[in-house]
Amino acid sequence: MCRGVLSPAVLGRRLILPDNRIMKEQIERVIHLGTRYPNSLSEDAAIDVLGMVGIEDGKCVFLSSGSEAVELGAQIIRRVTDKPLLLTFASSYLAAFGSAGRKSKEEWHLFDWNLCTHVGSCDCLDGIPWQDIGGFVFEPGGSGSESVRFPSRRLIQDIVAQVRQQGGLLMANEITTGMGRTGKWFGFQHYDLQPDIVAIGKGLGNGYPVSAVAMDRPVAEKLEGSGFHYAQSHQNDPLGCAVAKEVIAVFREENWVEKGRATGAYFLEGLQRLAGKHAVVKEARGRGMLLALEFRPQGGFSTAAVFQALLKNGFFVASSPTRNFLRFDPCLTMEKRDIDDLLVCLDSILAAAGEGTR
Ligand SMILES: Cc1ncc(COP(=O)(O)O)c(C=O)c1O
Repeated sequence: MCRGVLSPAVLGRRLILPDNRIMKEQIERVIHLGTRYPNSLSEDAAIDVLGMVGIEDGKCVFLSSGSEAVELGAQIIRRVTDKPLLLTFASSYLAAFGSAGRKSKEEWHLFDWNLCTHVGSCDCLDGIPWQDIGGFVFEPGGSGSESVRFPSRRLIQDIVAQVRQQGGLLMANEITTGMGRTGKWFGFQHYDLQPDIVAIGKGLGNGYPVSAVAMDRPVAEKLEGSGFHYAQSHQNDPLGCAVAKEVIAVFREENWVEKGRATGAYFLEGLQRLAGKHAVVKEARGRGMLLALEFRPQGGFSTAAVFQALLKNGFFVASSPTRNFLRFDPCLTMEKRDIDDLLVCLDSILAAAGEGTR
């Protein structure tokens, strides 16, 4: 019926190919150094990362995974503000371990923004102990890493204003939403605010395990003044820094944020056409190359069956059968003709699901 392959990598080429020059050259020079050895590559990569997140005069540390970056960011907030409680969305995924992995109520105040209309007299923010909150860890996909829903600008700006009024900080968790995923360099840029700390992972290494925590100067100064000590073996490794530097350079030279935005808009239009045609589709939504197609549970329709039919035809997408949607976050290099193939395939699967057309 229809065939295709979706690559999960961000750019999907160049760095992960075996002939990649930057990685080979760096492997031959030096891969790893102890945490006490400064290296010019980490300095250069830090300048690139800080420039990219809009914190010109800050500091940056490189780690290996997104979980490490978010957990370190959380530790930094607690240390700098001396407040152990952090605010985040109940649905946001933060880390595989540590305090950010546990999200225990002693350390995190979880807020369900899906319940909140935040218009007129909405009292959704009542009950948040603002004075105790050290910082808001904002995952700009809302629950984007899961269901691709985006909280309103007004809601986020109100939360940030309240947190900052009480001396709290804003950290953006850009592990999923960073590096052009949502059509801008970073997800927080849809909200017209500047975080104090930004955690970046995934796309920063384009498949290679490197992540970063960028912080502004006031945070860095307070942190250093506090005697905070953090060390792990693979911190500011030259190889990871060389990869991050190259990925950022490729993004800039080849304009991947803009290209991803345009491809995402094309993709969304196609999904919206399907939503208009098939009654079983409840909604098509997305921001850049982070998209979802949500179905109405009705009759014998099964989201899992749509997922399986796509897989059988060579399209591997994310699915949450219990919540009735498919999620699409393919590589930014995805070609329009591959999107067309996917849409044709989906169209015929939905038609065959017997739901008819509007
Ligand atoms: C929003 C978000 N934060 C943090 C993480 C953790 O990153 P990692 O799996 O690289 O440790 C993920 C991973 O999927 C994520 O989606």
